[in-house]
Amino acid sequence: MAKKQTTKSVSASKKSSARKGLAPVVNVALLGFGTVGSSVATVLAASKFPGIQLTHIFNRDVERKRTSAAAKRVPAAVVWTEDINVILKSNVDVVIELMGGLNPIEGWLRKAIVSGKSVVTANKQLIAYRGATLAKLAAKHDVHLVHGAAVAGGVPVIPGMLQGLGGDQVTRLSGIVNGTCNYILSRMETGADYATVLADAQQLGYAEADPSADVDGYDARAKLCILSRIAMHAELDPDAVATQSISTVEAVDFSYAKELNCTIRQVSRAQLEGTTVHARVAPMLVPMASPIAWSHGTQNMVVVSGRFGGDVVFSGHGAGGEPTAVAVVSDLLAVAQGCKSVQLPVRKRKVTGEFLAPHYLRFVVDDKPGIVSAIAGALAKVGANIDSILQRPGYPKHRLPFVVTTEPCLTSVIEKALHSLAKMDCMLERPLCLQMLQIEDKPE
Ligand code: NAP
Ligand code: HSE
Repeated sequence: MAKKQTTKSVSASKKSSARKGLAPVVNVALLGFGTVGSSVATVLAASKFPGIQLTHIFNRDVERKRTSAAAKRVPAAVVWTEDINVILKSNVDVVIELMGGLNPIEGWLRKAIVSGKSVVTANKQLIAYRGATLAKLAAKHDVHLVHGAAVAGGVPVIPGMLQGLGGDQVTRLSGIVNGTCNYILSRMETGADYATVLADAQQLGYAEADPSADVDGYDARAKLCILSRIAMHAELDPDAVATQSISTVEAVDFSYAKELNCTIRQVSRAQLEGTTVHARVAPMLVPMASPIAWSHGTQNMVVVSGRFGGDVVFSGHGAGGEPTAVAVVSDLLAVAQGCKSVQLPVRKRKVTGEFLAPHYLRFVVDDKPGIVSAIAGALAKVGANIDSILQRPGYPKHRLPFVVTTEPCLTSVIEKALHSLAKMDCMLERPLCLQMLQIEDKPE
């Protein structure tokens, strides 16, 4: 993402302070005093970085916000406002945007950039959809636009890729980039119930304002697009990236996954093949031996594979106020010190969700003779070969869950077979189809 060395407002502020013989001061406004915004205020208050001064906080319904415990740590001189124009017309050098969403945020940040203010944001939707044009605007106005907290919360994946991997040719990314889904699935792995752990994740401040962004994969696909742009220099349309919800994964799937020496995680993966990127965000079976299976709670993990440097792994807390605040404040320090990041050309790329992978198919049926042979027939018709059939005893025959796994084949091929199987009278639910991640997985 574009990040220029100097900014008019930061440098002007520094010059005026230098004239007075004072340490340079960078004035900062926080836009949004929720989970991350209030944690940023806490980190700034605790660390007292020289030259950084929080001067404004913008939020709706400021009186409600000022009664929170975190507000007590905000210096008394800070101006609280519900009027964005107070910020836009102020002498603030850097705005930190922690509200989320596209509208009206994009318009406000455009105005901030045009008025010479640098922007630090954790807003993945904004950066996935509008990052390229906002970066151009920031470059034109000689200000910074940085978003290190937009992917993997407190894990420095973005600065690590920009500063540490720009010299490689990255061809593949895979891992866990949504803390809420990882929190839910890793707790379901030990027997917890989906609805209960989702409510916990919301209460703990991990989930998005609308948690369907987490569980249905839209948060992770925005992050995958940002990473693809930085690591593979590929600009993707987020709406074109295949996503699958974790909400249809049930306790029985963890039991069957265990029999296959696997667990289940929401995996985000992208692989550059020629001019096409194969990309998908979905719950997948992950071998217990894979590092991706070892991530629990809000931990994120991104494995980046480069042509020259091989695999590099980033891991740590991907959600939560304080880990994310660390990434935001680190970006702020970089902006305040005029740090410049690596910039490489980005090209628009086509996206497909196709991967050649073994598949896990879970059926719930009203049991009767001939079901397995019908499934085998439908799979044979599309050229998919069965690898195993798992049916544990003890489930009621009138609501019997059982599993078929296939040898590697394209997901679109399996989906074609499932489309016809879903119409069978005995099927009580739409069959669940999950890719099975393999070490060294290759797209078709
Ligand atoms: P949050 O707790 O919902 O906080 C958002 C704050 O912004 C709230 O105080 C909200 O006010 C305020 N706000 C939202 N829209 C506004 C508007 N139009 N005008 C005025 N105030 C507005 O969200 P969060 O978890 O801190 O997340 C903030 C951003 O960081 C999002 O882009 C999110 O995706 C990103 N992020 C979050 C995490 C995390 O772990 N939470 C990690 C990485 C990145 P109300 O209280 O009135 O709603
Ligand atoms: N809701 C997001 C998650 C926050 O759970 O990963 C961090 O981006």
